[in-house]
Parts: sequence; structure tokens; C-alpha cells
Amino acid sequence: MARIIDAPLVADRACEPRRAAWGPLDAAARRGLSFTPDVKRETDALYEQVEHVIPPFEWPAYAPLIAAINRLKREKNAVILAHNYMTSEIFFCVGDFRGDSLQLAREAAACTADVIVQAGVHFMAETSKILAPDKKVLIPDLRAGCSLAASITGEDVRLIKARYPGVPVVTYVNTSAEVKAESDVTCTSSNAVQVCEWAAKEWGSDRVILIPDEFLAKNVAAMTNLKIIAWHGRCEVHERFTAEDVAELRAAHPGLVVLAHPECPPDVMAVADYAGSTAALAHYVEKRNPAKVVLLTECSMSDNVAAAAPQTDFIRPCNLCPHMKRITLEAIYDALVNMRHEVTIDEDVRVRAKRAIDRMLALPKQQTPLDFETGRAPAEVELV
Ligand code: 13P
Ligand code: SF4
Repeated sequence: MARIIDAPLVADRACEPRRAAWGPLDAAARRGLSFTPDVKRETDALYEQVEHVIPPFEWPAYAPLIAAINRLKREKNAVILAHNYMTSEIFFCVGDFRGDSLQLAREAAACTADVIVQAGVHFMAETSKILAPDKKVLIPDLRAGCSLAASITGEDVRLIKARYPGVPVVTYVNTSAEVKAESDVTCTSSNAVQVCEWAAKEWGSDRVILIPDEFLAKNVAAMTNLKIIAWHGRCEVHERFTAEDVAELRAAHPGLVVLAHPECPPDVMAVADYAGSTAALAHYVEKRNPAKVVLLTECSMSDNVAAAAPQTDFIRPCNLCPHMKRITLEAIYDALVNMRHEVTIDEDVRVRAKRAIDRMLALPKQQTPLDFETGRAPAEVELV
């Protein structure tokens, strides 16, 4: 079985207790749910997927919520779209579709259920609603935001466009519907280079505005000849990784393969072995089976990728996304019981945002997620 080795040595970061942050263990009991023989029978097979992260004595606390959620999904014709950063009991035990932002957007567009529960953050739920306006889209906790989405408003984008007329606006999906509505096309970390090059050609421009993630923009700039105009947004999880962390980790764990998400700073990308979206990182581990790996991204990724990588040891510096961690089993259960918190979007905003997302989804689908090249010299961008 894969080993998960927490790595508190990185900088001065304390390694959080593994599961205490995910919610109280009496959440099922407080909802009148208990670990009955029926619950055990319904959930025994699911436990096999999470036994590497949930000890057997804790399983009776999770299983009643899992069984109840799966029953509620059938009753309400609901599906759960689970992002790669969800904790393993959500990802494996109640998630119907799993993946990175791009994969989940495609699933939302194709979905035939009546209800979508977004096990992810608010901008992901908005993307689902934009693509599936006839479905009820629920976000289990309204506080599940994102530092990138919070870094920019629709008004900011209007001002940027006024300053750079004729330059296409490529917007990362980690933004509000209002920001997408002001944009020409969206991108994710799976296709950012492809979308920027497409937009430049389509608009006949040698410049592209790529907002709001400054580091993603710089990492894209390192891979293209286009001039990139960027915004100063940062992911509060990925901006904390440093090249010194990587050096420390390599010294402590000889033979370590270092994988990074492209929201990391360029100097981290320069010393990583491979970089890509969350789906690309999972794909790398699955196909290449490294003996020892570190995923420079949110904590839960390692737990989820480890399930299909029994030969790999995961060194796990613990950078939690506090927004993703708002989504717990009990929040999903409460959302389905009460059909709360429904995501709604003004129809004019939705239609304009959909145009930007549709342009991205219409680009040729890659067989495997796109890689970001690592080891490149950091590139300059123009910061607005
Ligand atoms: P992915 O599109 O790679 O899943 O990233 C989403 C995200 O929020 C990364 O921080
Ligand atoms: Fe936003 Fe970063 Fe959390 Fe992803 S990990 S949702 S980019 S704050």
C-alpha cells in the first residue's frame, strides 16, 4: 500500500493533524444516523478505497453519512461533482464524477441529473450553473470561496479592457460568473497555453490578457512567445511553496520526484520535475509510478492519488485550502436534505459567461492533460 509521509520540515509550517480539520466525528450521530448492519453492508466495499487514510475505528463515524448521502442522491436524482482536492471520504465514497476544474465543467455540461451538488468551491458551482441552467446546483457551504476568485471583479476587467483595446481577455475559471461574463474565453490549468495561443490567433494579436493568477500567467509566459498581460491574484495555497522548500525536501528524501501545480511561483516551477493541472499530476503518478513523490499542491490530492499508486510513497507537506475544506460529508448531507444552498446567476451574466466557457470547451479535447514544462527560466509579464 502507498505510504503517506507528512513532511512538517518545510519552512515553519506546522503539519495539521491529519483528519481533525475535516469535521467533528460525531456529525452523523448528531443527525440521528448510526452505524447499523445495513449501513455496514452498503459501505464495506467503499471502505477499501479509503482504508489508507481512515483508520478502521473511525469508519463507523463516516459510514452512516456516506450511506445516507448515497440514498438521498438516488431519491433526488442528484449527482456529486467532486474536485481532486476533496477529502478521500467525499472523493471516493460519495463523488459520482471526479477530476480537475476542466473535467468537472465538462461533466456539468453533459449531466442529465436534476440536481448537481458541487463538492468543490463556489466558482466551480457557478461554472456548473452556467453550463447547466436547468439543473438545481447546490454548494454545500456558501463560504467555500477562492483567493483567486476574490482578487478581481467584473469592474476590474472592464477597466483592463479599456486600457488594452483589441487584446483578448483569457480568464482562469477560478473567477466569478461576473468576471467570466466580461471575458473573451476561459481557461483552466489543463489548457491555459492552448487557450492563450488560440485567442491570440483568433484576435490577431501578439498579446493576451491572462487573469487573475499572476503565477499562472508567468508560467504560461515561459512556454509561449506571446506577450502576457497579467493581474496580481494569487492562490493562497500554492503561493506558499518556495524553491527552498523543494531543496529541503530533496535533501531529506533522496530520489524524490517533485510535481507542481502551475499556480506555484515560477521559481518553484523551475526546480520541479513536472507540472500540470491536478488531473495531470494524478495522471503522471498513475502512469510513471515514481517510488517517492511530492505533489506541491493541496493536501488531499496525495491522499486521493495514493489510492491508485500502491508502490509510491507520498511526501506530503500540508498546505490546506481552507475553502475546499469547508465541504464536508455533513455539509453535503445537510445540502441534500434541505436542498440548500442553491447557486443562482443573473441570466444576462450567465449567457455572457457561458460564451467564454463554450469557446474553451469547443477547443480540441486532449487525450491526456497538458503538461507545463518545468526547468524553464522565469518569464516576464506586464502586470496591470
Ligand atoms: P485544477 O483545475 O488543476 O483542478 O485546479 C483547481 C484549483 O483550484 C487549483 O488550486
Ligand atoms: Fe482557490 Fe487556491 Fe483553494 Fe484552488 S487551492 S480553490 S486556487 S484558494
